[in-house]
Amino acid sequence: MSDNLVEFIKERKQKLNAVIMAHYYQRPEIQDLADLVGDSLQLARDAAQAQADVIVFCGVSFMAESAKILNPEKLVVMPEPEAGCPMADMITADKLRKWKASHPEAKVVCYVNSSAEVKAESDICCTSSNAIQVVNSIPREYPILFVPDKNLGNFVALKTGRKIECWPGYCPTHQDVTAQEIQEMRARHPQAPVVVHPECRPEVIKLADEALSTGGILKYVEKSPAREFIIGTEAGLLHQLEKRFPDKVFHIAREEFLCPNMKLTTLENLAYVMDTLEHKVEVPEDIGIKAYHSLERMLNIS
Ligand code: 13P
Ligand code: SF4
Repeated sequence: MSDNLVEFIKERKQKLNAVIMAHYYQRPEIQDLADLVGDSLQLARDAAQAQADVIVFCGVSFMAESAKILNPEKLVVMPEPEAGCPMADMITADKLRKWKASHPEAKVVCYVNSSAEVKAESDICCTSSNAIQVVNSIPREYPILFVPDKNLGNFVALKTGRKIECWPGYCPTHQDVTAQEIQEMRARHPQAPVVVHPECRPEVIKLADEALSTGGILKYVEKSPAREFIIGTEAGLLHQLEKRFPDKVFHIAREEFLCPNMKLTTLENLAYVMDTLEHKVEVPEDIGIKAYHSLERMLNIS
């Protein structure tokens, strides 16, 4: 059955001149089928250079929306339109406008995990791969408002020494990891470095050897002489880690380290969307133009 679906998806892809893009948190079978697999920054870069007529985005809605903003003339579809990001939903454009009004001197840095409307209200976007460079690109005289992730914002403030006020948003999946879980994992695997995502709580980041984006974790493992690692991010990344580094051993920092929204994409709904081209991603033109500038500023500096 799944072989038939894979064959069908491949045939449709050719017929439509489509490209399938997938985030590292997608199910293994989706990652294996995709033409491009990456972290948020890599996928935004790939989307900006896409040559295909149709972009089929396997991830969550803010990622597919970014692909559409960067390619307003292309057809962008998502297999599962309900796949959102709860952290992105923790701020609205209206709330951001009010916050900005009380800090008229500040620049707004917006994590890409946000809606197109919030990007449109921001000065520049960032991902977890380039947040430090993005903040450093802003002249020091400006205070910074960081939306929506307080954990990434506080991590960047610590790394750059900049005055950053953070919106109190967070990722429910990464927020769940506790310092105690990290300590227990370290006790069980004392030889393994701990690498976590900067969406984790500050006390978890403090206990880790490194806090890196998903792409950063892959590079860290590639360069490290260690044989075992404790991985503090969504379990989908283990598929890439195990595939690329079969001689190394990976321990996930907590059981059930899953983003339910990322897991909504399946071979079935991918095949369906490639058949019907339903679930088109749309961004109103005026919002898209403003959001494009925030994304473009980010892509130009890193
Ligand atoms: P990356 O940019 O590190 O891939 O992270 C995306 C994300 O949603 C993390 O929860
Ligand atoms: Fe959003 Fe967290 Fe899922 Fe990433 S892991 S998409 S931040 S809910």
